[in-house]
Amino acid sequence: MTDNSPFASRPLIPRPVTAVAGDTAGLVLTASTRVSADPDARGTLTWLQRELGAATGLPLATGDETSSQIRLSVDPGAGLGREGYRLIVDDEGALVVGNDPAGVFYGAQTLRQLLPADAYRAAPLGGTEWTLPAGSVTDAPRFAWRGAMLDVARHFLPKREVMRFVDLMAAHKLNVLHLHLTDDQGWRVEIRRYPKLTERGSWRTRTQQGCATPPVFDDRPHGGFYTQEDVREIVAHAAARHVTVVPEIDVPGHSQAAIHAYPELGECGRIPVGTQWGVFEEVLAVTDEVLEFYRGVLDEVVELFPGPYVHVGGDECPKAQWRSSPSAQRRIKEEGLADEDELQSWFIRQLDAHLTARGRRLVGWDEILEGGLLERDGAGGGGRAGISPGATVMSWRGEEGGVAAARAGHDVVMSPTRTSYLDYRQSDAADEPVRVGTLLRTEDVYLAEPVPEGLTDEEAAHVLGAQVNVWTEHVDTPRRLDYMVFPRLSAFAEQVWSTGERDYAEFEPRLRGHLERLDAAGVEYRPLEGPRPWQTRPGVVGWD
Ligand code: ACM
Repeated sequence: MTDNSPFASRPLIPRPVTAVAGDTAGLVLTASTRVSADPDARGTLTWLQRELGAATGLPLATGDETSSQIRLSVDPGAGLGREGYRLIVDDEGALVVGNDPAGVFYGAQTLRQLLPADAYRAAPLGGTEWTLPAGSVTDAPRFAWRGAMLDVARHFLPKREVMRFVDLMAAHKLNVLHLHLTDDQGWRVEIRRYPKLTERGSWRTRTQQGCATPPVFDDRPHGGFYTQEDVREIVAHAAARHVTVVPEIDVPGHSQAAIHAYPELGECGRIPVGTQWGVFEEVLAVTDEVLEFYRGVLDEVVELFPGPYVHVGGDECPKAQWRSSPSAQRRIKEEGLADEDELQSWFIRQLDAHLTARGRRLVGWDEILEGGLLERDGAGGGGRAGISPGATVMSWRGEEGGVAAARAGHDVVMSPTRTSYLDYRQSDAADEPVRVGTLLRTEDVYLAEPVPEGLTDEEAAHVLGAQVNVWTEHVDTPRRLDYMVFPRLSAFAEQVWSTGERDYAEFEPRLRGHLERLDAAGVEYRPLEGPRPWQTRPGVVGWD
C-alpha cells in the first residue's frame, strides 16, 4: 500500500492481511451498476443492495454473472482460510471471493470501507462520486471468537438498539454478541413457562446513580424485556450479518430479579428487584425444584438461540447463605462435596449436563473453575465427574482462569477486566464520565494481546479469541453506550481480527479516518481528545 494511493484515504479497519493499491482509477458506481452473487452469497447481496442502495440512492439492481460490475462468489477451494476473502477492484468491476458465506460478507464490508464515508449514511446527500479505488485485498481473521457482551440487565437496551449495535459490530468484522440477559437488577427475556420472570422481574422501582456512599437514587422506575418474538428477530438480524448471539442466564448469584419473581428460588423470602450496584448475598437455593426451574428456562433459551453456546454466568456468588442453609448443607453431604465452592461447581455441572444433552456447549465466567470443576475422578460416573469437554471458560479476573482452562484442554475466551471492560474509565481526567475501574484507553485496547504468555501452541489453540464487555450500571441510554463503546470497539476489532505487529502510532491516523464513517453512521463516540460538554456527568461519582 503506498501512502498517496486512494486506498490510503480509505483506511481499512480492521487492517487486512494484505492490501495492494492498483494503478488505475478504479470503479465508479452509477445507476447502471449491477450486482450478482452465487447462491451461497445471496444474503450478502441483499445486505449490500439494502445498505449501499440506501446510502448511494443507486438501484444496484441484480444482474447476471457476466453483465454485473460487482460480483460476489464463494470458493472454498481458493485457499482463503476460514471467513477469509479476496476483493479485487479494477476499472471494469469489483470481485469478492469468499472462502465461505461469512468471507463474502467481510469482503463486502471492506468494499463499503473503500467507498467514501458517506457510504455509512442512510440516505444520499447528492453530489458524492462513488468511486471504489483499484486494488486488491486478501484477508482472513486471526480469531474465531470476536465478541462483545452487552449487559442489557442493568439497563435495558431496546431491540432496535441491539440490532443497530449488531450492525456496528458487523461493520468491524466482529461475530459474537453475548447478551447478559439476567442479573439482580432485571430479567430481560420472556420465558413462557415462568411469566412472572418478566411480569415482576423486568423492572425496578428506582436506580442508583453512580457509586456514592451513601447511595443516591433517581426514583424513576426502569424496565423492559424482549418477547420471544423480539429475540427471534434479533437472532435472525444477527445471523444475516454472520453474528452469533450467545445468551447468558446468570446463576447461581446475580439472581435477585428471579428471586423477586419466584421467591421459592431463593433462601431469603421475597426481595425487591435490585436497585443498587454490587455483589449481593441473596443467591439461588440448590434444591431439585430450583434445578428443574432452570432446566425449564434453558429449554426455552436453547429454542430461541440456535447457536452452539449458552452462558450460565457463575460469577460472583457469595456463599454465606449456603453456609447457613439446611438444604444446601444437606446437598453437600448427600453429594459428598467438600464445601460451598464444590456445591457451586456441582450446580453448574447439573446445568452443563442438561445443555450437553441438548447438543449445546456451556460457557461460564472463570469462577466456574472454583470447586474443582475441571477435575475428573475417572470417567463415566462414580466419584466426581468433571465438566463436559466442550465447556468454555470466559476469563475475566485476569488471565489465570483462561490459562488454567486451556491447560486442562478447555476452550477459553479472554476478556480480562484490564483490557476488555468497556465500562472502565477512558481517561483519568476529572471530566471523564463515570470513572470506574482501571484506565482503559483506546490505545490500551488496541495493544492488548489476547493469548496469555506461557501457553504451549496446543494450549494456545484453545484460546478461541477475545471479547469486550459493556457493563451498563452507568450506561443508561444508547447515547451513553456509544460513548463508552466507540472508538474502543474499533481498536478491539483490530486486536482480534488482524495478524502481525500492532503500532498505535500507525493505527491512530487510520482511526481518525474511520471516525468519519462513525460520524456518517450517527455514532456518538468519545472524541479522541475527550468528552464533549454534554457527554460529561458532573457530580456522578465512580469508583477506583
Ligand atoms: C463479571 O464481571 N462479574 C463477569
